[in-house]
Amino acid sequence: MVPATPVDETFARLAARYSIGPKHLIEPAPDADALMAAARLALRAPDHKGLRPYRFLYIAPAQRTALAELFAQGARERGRSDEDVARARERAVNGPTLVALLGRVRDDIEDVPAREQWLSIGAALMNFLNGLHLQGFGAKVLSGASVEDAVVQRALCGNGETLLCWIVAGTPARLPHARFADDPLAVLSTWAPHGPP
Ligand SMILES: Cc1cc2nc3c(=O)[nH]c(=O)nc-3n(C[C@H](O)[C@H](O)[C@H](O)COP(=O)(O)O)c2cc1C
Repeated sequence: MVPATPVDETFARLAARYSIGPKHLIEPAPDADALMAAARLALRAPDHKGLRPYRFLYIAPAQRTALAELFAQGARERGRSDEDVARARERAVNGPTLVALLGRVRDDIEDVPAREQWLSIGAALMNFLNGLHLQGFGAKVLSGASVEDAVVQRALCGNGETLLCWIVAGTPARLPHARFADDPLAVLSTWAPHGPP
């Protein structure tokens, strides 16, 4: 196998994308143009039959408080303490920009099983993150209990959609760093028929 060397600046920049959590994200936040550019890259994800099984939903700043109340309601419905409810409310207003990723995986499409649609959603998410990163923004994918809350799901999702995760984005206030060591050979090898896995 040929050793991998970064081929250009864009490659090197993509290889240096790391998640940055809301605590370390500040203004300016990605504006409508920046989000649109990231969505354009997301659309370059492989997508059998062009089903577009995903949708990015921007939560405008003016809507964050309303979302916070839904987070709080969700926590109350889970029987959490007042302290936890207050913490849940805080999570909705953490970080400069908030985008929800919704999935719509169908089981009625010939030749496109659910697993292919899930792969497409994941690829779109990755391209969206890379799109933000290449424009100089930091981001992190987060889930947490709110993603499972029926009240939050109902408020955001259309027919057949599921809220999958949140993307928090903004300008990095510190240099990102790797959380895990990257070893390409752990994920890339040459098939050896009948050999060990
Ligand atoms: C769907 C999804 C949900 C995630 N939810 C959380 C979360 O709630 N909290 C968290 O710390 N990391 C979460 N992560 C992981 C981070 O987004 C991030 O990928 C991880 O910290 C590794 O950092 P890196 O992207 O810099 O390698 C989630 C990742 C995915 C794909």
